[in-house]
Amino acid sequence: MSESPEPSGPAMRIGVGAEAAPETRVAMSPETVGKVVGLGYAVTVESGAGARAGFTDGAYAEAGADVVDGPVWDTDVVVRINAPRSEEIGKLREGSVLIAMLAPRFEPERTEALAAQGVTALSMDAVPRISRAQSMDVLSSMANIAGYRAVIEAAHAFGRFFTGQVTAAGKVPPAKVLVAGAGVAGLAAIAAANSLGAVVRATDPRAEVADQVRSLGGEYLAVEVEQEASTDGYAKATSADYDRRAAEIYSEQAADCDIIITTALIPGRPAPKLITAADVASMRPGSVVVDMAASQGGNVEGSVAGESVVTDHGVTVVGYTDLAARLPAQASQLYGTNVLNLLKLMTPEKDGRLALDLDDTVVRGITTAHAGETIWPPPEVKVSAAPAAQPAEKETAEAEPAKERSPYAGLAAGVLGAVALFLVTAFAPAELAGHLTVFVLAIVIGFYVIGNVHHALHTPLMSVTNAISGIIVVGAILQVGTGGEPLIIGLAAVAVLLAAINIVGGFAVTRRMLQMFTRS
Ligand code: NAI
Repeated sequence: MSESPEPSGPAMRIGVGAEAAPETRVAMSPETVGKVVGLGYAVTVESGAGARAGFTDGAYAEAGADVVDGPVWDTDVVVRINAPRSEEIGKLREGSVLIAMLAPRFEPERTEALAAQGVTALSMDAVPRISRAQSMDVLSSMANIAGYRAVIEAAHAFGRFFTGQVTAAGKVPPAKVLVAGAGVAGLAAIAAANSLGAVVRATDPRAEVADQVRSLGGEYLAVEVEQEASTDGYAKATSADYDRRAAEIYSEQAADCDIIITTALIPGRPAPKLITAADVASMRPGSVVVDMAASQGGNVEGSVAGESVVTDHGVTVVGYTDLAARLPAQASQLYGTNVLNLLKLMTPEKDGRLALDLDDTVVRGITTAHAGETIWPPPEVKVSAAPAAQPAEKETAEAEPAKERSPYAGLAAGVLGAVALFLVTAFAPAELAGHLTVFVLAIVIGFYVIGNVHHALHTPLMSVTNAISGIIVVGAILQVGTGGEPLIIGLAAVAVLLAAINIVGGFAVTRRMLQMFTRS
């Protein structure tokens, strides 16, 4: 089902209003506005909407927006960060579309009010965690910023370096940081703390994150207890066994670490309590705990949502709930880009007309109210972030008896090979035997060398194959130049062509990969 509020007609107008204080972010940066205008939409921005994020009215006007005084509620599409208050819902036009973080899971009455107003409500915080939707996932982009900022807050409250140093005035050990929960925010915190030079450790019940933790420079502390695998990219509730063993690890780590950052979350449940008051009390004075889950009840006993408190023996416990908004320019830019990607998905004709395709998993997942009805929750989307289970060796053997190898198969292959080699050396010209030996050796060595290279290193390996292709080109050109048999010249010409394609393709892919790491 695909429909837009008016099937044909002029381009729709998108309104971006100023958010109520203390919010610092704005739903679109001037850069995003420019791209939205490129999709065919007209954009109206409330004067001063971007001021707290450092975006001027002039920049919005330059990007193609109409800047107006006063709130913007009566446009075809209203884009905001935070949900409108109940008195603001009444200002939305019937048939209009609202795009904002609407928290439908926690505020069902708001969804009902929006449906009653005849508004199509799209909740940016309900984007399903599937690969295709990553570019629209505001929870991930905000958690990424918040994880980084949690480390900055911790570093600010901590009276020491994060990095270890050997100075003329003495040796400084690196700070030890524990990150509890290695989801989006946790991984960002691990990367930030590692880049500041700290020793970083992390826990998470989803064992599949261990490699990600290590790749960001952290050490994964495994809790050796079986856990149910994730089916939707989010964790399942942990077992009592897991919690008991994890509690021991947290107690050991609290006594050893300088900084603890907690990000543990299981959707739809209160935040699991991980760090007890006794753990906090066992930390050295001057240590810092950042409880990122403070707004959902907290992972840390004694944290206060929205505040930073210092315990009697000098441990700072930070419970800020606005970590992403503390980097307003960055957060507005990424939020706006997420909205832009959604608009791209919903504007297939690039004609400034929003098409609501409720058969699309992403669109269905975020639509909470439409045509006067509440349509939340959406059907469950099953995805798994866990690596596919490997069948046990025994099961495989039982399931595939036909493939059992005969002990004589290897012997027969060896005998056949030896006979073939004898015939070739006996009857073929002397050079062919030499060439054949080199060819067979190259296959065997190539198989073992390349077969053992990790998948992640296949691109660097391509530079080596480029060198080999270069040698092939030189050899083949020499053959072409001998003026010998037409068949050999033809084969040599084909070899030049194929090797040249490999070289050009290899350079093109390498160049593309290098561009991913280049600062513009
Ligand atoms: P996420 O779902 O990506 O990550 C949560 C992680 O916690 C998952 O990897 C999960 O496996 C893990 N986890 C679940 N139970 C656990 C347990 N018992 N022990 C250890 N780990 C456990 O969530 P995301 O997006 O990283 O957000 C993390 C938290 O940060 C959430 O509570 C979110 O609301 C909060 N947040 C806070 C902000 C702030 O300003 N304070 C801003 C953005 C997010």
